[in-house]
Amino acid sequence: MQVIETIDEMRAARRGWAGETVGLFPTMGYLHAGHLSLVERAHAENEHVAVSIFVNPTQFAPTEDLSRYPRDLPRDLAMLEAAGVDVVFTPSADAMYPPGYATYVEPSGMLAERLEAATRPSHFRGVATVVTKLFQIVAPDNAYFAQKDAQQVAVVRRLVADLNLPLAVRVLPIVREADGLAMSTRNKYLGPEDRAAAVVLNRALQAGAAAFDSRPAGGVAAVIAAMTQVVAGEPRAQLDYADICDPDNFAPLTELRPPALLAIAAKVGPARLIDNFLLRADGTWEKGVTVAL
Ligand code: PAJ
Repeated sequence: MQVIETIDEMRAARRGWAGETVGLFPTMGYLHAGHLSLVERAHAENEHVAVSIFVNPTQFAPTEDLSRYPRDLPRDLAMLEAAGVDVVFTPSADAMYPPGYATYVEPSGMLAERLEAATRPSHFRGVATVVTKLFQIVAPDNAYFAQKDAQQVAVVRRLVADLNLPLAVRVLPIVREADGLAMSTRNKYLGPEDRAAAVVLNRALQAGAAAFDSRPAGGVAAVIAAMTQVVAGEPRAQLDYADICDPDNFAPLTELRPPALLAIAAKVGPARLIDNFLLRADGTWEKGVTVAL
């Protein structure tokens, strides 16, 4: 496995794979089993797999956890080596954003305004910018993302279509722990009691999906109320939003019909956690997969 820190070397490695398929899996490191499932898929679908590890400063607001975002490069590299990755690309912040850097990719519309974007106003601009740069540098045939960050998936799909980028966006299910909590780097911030309480997001989504399936007379508002009520029952959790929206453009739904995204965000102790269930166009639910640790 090659560990590459410079953009020139990454481009050279890509040139060495000319005519062969490359899968790129962008990450901010501190990898967990959820991440590794994306690596596995990338392996199955490409001749070469590149993983980027870059804690992207432009997607963190000044008030957010950039400086304390967990990092453990040696551990990540050992995991990726064991997973058979060809290249790990770990550029410095200066290489990606040298002095004088001035160009950003700015999503617009409801995608850039609602839910995660409402709480984190410049977040998706940072994500769209770094992902576009990584696509330019690595030139993958396939890029791997997970449903865990549903709004990020919609932003990336949109930018690939809008900017005519020559690659396929591959989206994989949320990997969950045995009790249903979605795996997340930020779960590391949870003490034992908050960790136990954090499963409330999953319980709220289950209640929302059951309510959705029963097509209550109260419609969208009744389903949102079902989710909200579950979170209200957990004193350690503070709801940020519970929402039902169109999974492609994040516009709020006015009626209960597929495709639909049930999305939730809540603060549990020190961590802000997000989760979602997707009701596909064919009427089946995508709720993620559970792995025992
Ligand atoms: P990061 O939070 O490191 O996540 C990297 C990828 O892992 C994302 O596609 C994310 O959706 C996926 N992932 C996270 N938790 C998961 C889980 N429980 N199951 C399956 N996949 C999971 O997302 C980012 O980094 C950044 O915004 C990035 C795209 C790298 C741009 O900086």
